[in-house]
Amino acid sequence: MEEKTKIAVLVSGGGTNLQALIDAEKNGIIRSGRITVVISNKPGVYALERAEKAEIPAVVINKKELGSQEAFEARLIEELEGRGAELIVLAGFMCILSESFTKRYAGRIINVHPSLIPSFCGQGYYGLRVHEAALERGVKVTGATVHFVNEIPDGGEIIMQKAVTIEAGDTAETLQKRVMELAEWKILPQSVELVSKKIKKS
Ligand code: GAR
Repeated sequence: MEEKTKIAVLVSGGGTNLQALIDAEKNGIIRSGRITVVISNKPGVYALERAEKAEIPAVVINKKELGSQEAFEARLIEELEGRGAELIVLAGFMCILSESFTKRYAGRIINVHPSLIPSFCGQGYYGLRVHEAALERGVKVTGATVHFVNEIPDGGEIIMQKAVTIEAGDTAETLQKRVMELAEWKILPQSVELVSKKIKKS
């Protein structure tokens, strides 16, 4: 039996969080898991190139082309089972997963969200929108959260959080960059190590 937890990383865009995971595996922050596949719901995204550069199999499951959530999830399950994935990491993955999918992989799916949950989360809060909402509300502190995924968007058990201070003159873009650098790229790899280790012990 492989002694490392097999990790599938799901992406939809630039993939800076994927890069943080690849780097963390190289430098030993992730020791108990191995990224075995990267899956994108969209073709042509930069995250796929990052996977290829790191020599990790990269797969596109084109949600638009497949037409329905059911067809998309059926292909996803086929791919995950075929590769023996034990942990699914949503790293900038912009699709909501159904209750039957999240129940099938209960305790095996984790997500990174760019705010301190329960603020600025749930349906409609993703990417830059989260930071726009934080600035509009005038909060002084925001951050990132890594949590288990259940049937409620951004509603699963929290694994780690890290706070980031909002600075005068911040735009959604400057805030997004700081939250990524100071919070997401740190707590996502740390959480992946924590959960990978637990899976191997269970
Ligand atoms: C990240 O900030 C991630 O937390 C966020 O999208 C960005 C993706 O960037 N995810 C969500 O908003 C999910 N609700 P990346 O592709 O460079 O990792």
